[in-house]
Amino acid sequence: MSRASENLAVLGLQWGDEGKGKLVDLLAPRYRHVVRFQGGNNAGHTVVVDGQSIALHQVPSGALHPGCFLVVGSGVVLNLDVFHVELSRLRERGIEVTDRLLLSDKAHVILPHHIALDIWREERAHKVGAKIGTTGRGIGPAYEMKAARMGVRLGDLKHLEVLADRIRPGYDEVRLRLGPDLGTGADLPSIEAIVENLLKAVEPLLHCIGNTQSRLQEAWTKGEQILFEGAQATMLDLDHGTYPFVTSSNCSLGGLFTGTGLPPKALHRVLGVAKAYTTRVGAGPMVSELTNELGDRIREAGHEYGTTTGRPRRCGWFDAPITAHACRTNGVDGLAIMKLDVLDGLDQVGLVVGYRDGNGNLTSELPSCAAEWADLKPEIKMFKGWSVPTRGITHHQQLPAEAQGYLDAVAEAVEMPIAYVSTGPDRAEGCLYPGTFLESLMS
Ligand code: IMP
Repeated sequence: MSRASENLAVLGLQWGDEGKGKLVDLLAPRYRHVVRFQGGNNAGHTVVVDGQSIALHQVPSGALHPGCFLVVGSGVVLNLDVFHVELSRLRERGIEVTDRLLLSDKAHVILPHHIALDIWREERAHKVGAKIGTTGRGIGPAYEMKAARMGVRLGDLKHLEVLADRIRPGYDEVRLRLGPDLGTGADLPSIEAIVENLLKAVEPLLHCIGNTQSRLQEAWTKGEQILFEGAQATMLDLDHGTYPFVTSSNCSLGGLFTGTGLPPKALHRVLGVAKAYTTRVGAGPMVSELTNELGDRIREAGHEYGTTTGRPRRCGWFDAPITAHACRTNGVDGLAIMKLDVLDGLDQVGLVVGYRDGNGNLTSELPSCAAEWADLKPEIKMFKGWSVPTRGITHHQQLPAEAQGYLDAVAEAVEMPIAYVSTGPDRAEGCLYPGTFLESLMS
């Protein structure tokens, strides 16, 4: 198989769980490097091979391809214990990655007090109805500590003499905040125990920790192909999503550059990934949500339960305004529409083409405040469904005419050409669109 000629980013255009893992796995054999640049083990990227699914949280989804070098950039926050679980699950399948893996020495480590703070805060917020619905993995606090300059980087783990001192400021602040709740269900290990566990966890990985920026700069200069794997998605982006119901990293394009140390020139193409409908986990605005039997049907047909937390996902029709916003934010070159087959058999399929505000005016502008989102109602265009199943179709001309019509309307509403349509979870199930950048990149 020939290598791709351009560096590519695969980014989510909705609220995550679009199926980026499948695409990265599909594209990876064409690339020398597969890079994660933000997020942590809040992500769950599922890769299905021969009917068997593998959930990856922090290991880049190129893991299954022995020719891919895996890079975890400085913008990622890493839970080392979870990382080891992932490595051993891969090993059980005969896949060893530690001989082709580089973790940035600048990536921050998720510590027990980050997780405790995340859970404690969500429990308190729940009592006043202000829960974000985080994954409870300590992601927000790990990024907060990074910004507050109280974080611990992977590189710090090589310096035992200062490690406890690096951990202490953040640890003490969390103890202060949790105060009276400590010991009543919420408790923290001692700093000594945290240090001991970190050293044990990092020891087998020491040879994998280093300067990922140099490695990637060198790869770029030498013309080695790089595939960037986004985690979460634009609507969960700290700046460009539905704040405050977002994650704590920049999941859109800007995060790629800060999270790798590569300049924009090193990236040639952006593939935007969206499901043929919309899902979201956790709280926050979702104008397209279907809180009826149709929503339940999509959830069951699409197995829309979180890869990381198992929570049922909220389901709704494809939301063109959010997806168009995400395309603009990321400079997307083409769309990958995933899980089309989940809509098989519906009498009608809806497409949210705009929003009606409180005065009945039609808009496709996204508000900046959650309070303004609450006023919006979806403007839905209905399409005739298709009775012929799309599952497993590999040529877009074989898609039923109604499905093709629906996809054309999606592309028109988002103002973006479709480059790929996925028709099932397996690598083989999907159609590459002729004449698109993705086709020439894959040829
Ligand atoms: P956090 O990233 O755990 O802080 O969670 C913040 C919000 O992002 C919550 O609504 C989560 O459900 C959501 N979230 C975080 N990671 C993912 C993901 O990989 N897929 C879908 N939603 C996510």
